[in-house]
Amino acid sequence: MAERLTSNILTKPDAALEMTLRPSIFSDFTGQAKVKERLEITVAAAKQRKEPIDHVLLSGPPGLGKTTLACIIAKAMGANLKSTSGPTIEKAGDLAGLLTNLEEGDVLFIDEIHRLQKTIEEYLYPAMEDFKLDIIIDQGPNARSVRLSLPRFTLIGATTRSGLLTAPLLTRFPIRERLDYYQADQLKQIVMRSARLLNVEMEERGAEEIARRSRGTPRIANNLVKRVRDYAQVRHSGIVTGEIADAALKLLEIDENGLDEMDKRILEAIIVKFGGGPVGISSLAVTVGEEPDTIEEVYEPYLIMEGYLKRTSQGRVATELGYKKLGMRPSTGGQQDLI
Ligand SMILES: Nc1ncnc2c1ncn2[C@@H]1O[C@H](COP(=O)(O)OP(=O)(O)O)[C@@H](O)[C@H]1O
Ligand SMILES: [Mg+2]
Repeated sequence: MAERLTSNILTKPDAALEMTLRPSIFSDFTGQAKVKERLEITVAAAKQRKEPIDHVLLSGPPGLGKTTLACIIAKAMGANLKSTSGPTIEKAGDLAGLLTNLEEGDVLFIDEIHRLQKTIEEYLYPAMEDFKLDIIIDQGPNARSVRLSLPRFTLIGATTRSGLLTAPLLTRFPIRERLDYYQADQLKQIVMRSARLLNVEMEERGAEEIARRSRGTPRIANNLVKRVRDYAQVRHSGIVTGEIADAALKLLEIDENGLDEMDKRILEAIIVKFGGGPVGISSLAVTVGEEPDTIEEVYEPYLIMEGYLKRTSQGRVATELGYKKLGMRPSTGGQQDLI
């Protein structure tokens, strides 16, 4: 149970919570200083010229602020924001509908843009480049292509996997920004802000504990603030101290480095079942009972960044640190190798 719970903390956005806590202006957006400054300059310059900004691609692991930044940009431009996502656009007609309903200066946000079907993606190219849309009307021998003019709009694409974007789509985004995992001190500020907005009494030490164990991810930090608050409220007087945060996080089976049950299962599978690797993503996914995409997008990037895993051309390999995490040694691997 605890395992599903923590997994959900990592993968499932809580819509109501995100509405409350999502910063709506650049100055409330903590961290990602360079990205933020570049985007602020782009927005300010475009506003001075009274033009829409160029198309923007935001990439990075889930929960780091891509949707938030898209909303901030649209708001700063004073533009309408229309949101959709790659998988929900099923037919070229859906995209045509969205594009033809745009007004001058609108922002169209396409989340998970790497999951857009390739045949639909091709309609985006002239729309992005020349603000033209080629549609086919009629069928059979009467079918003909008509070129429609679109208003000047801004496309903001978000993706957890910029590597999966085709070159023609990638190159049509003049502005490409990648979000990185946050530092603990930035997450601490985010935790303190969220606690304030949720009326949670949060001590500095409590915020530090949550920040350190949030896998560099604001969405996780915010979810943990809520879980820790519940614990503090039911088991204590409601104030989140360092010890209370620690006890709550232990109960959620989130260890001192922020790793949860699924992370450990992944490491254990590689080390115990596959002799330390290399192992391919699909075998790994079957072994741990998780979707390959979720492993690649949510778990793996953090395990790699923290040095527990390496990705090689043959597959995933556990590092010495990965073995240590499980209390094992790399020399021979296997269950017998407990220190
Ligand atoms: N830089 C930030 N400062 C404060 N809160 C943030 C920041 N980035 C993200 N968040 C919080 O984390 C949540 C998830 O961010 P979101 O933009 O939905 O991530 P993504 O779209 O990259 O998956 C938001 O609701 C927001 O409250
Ligand atoms: Mg998002």
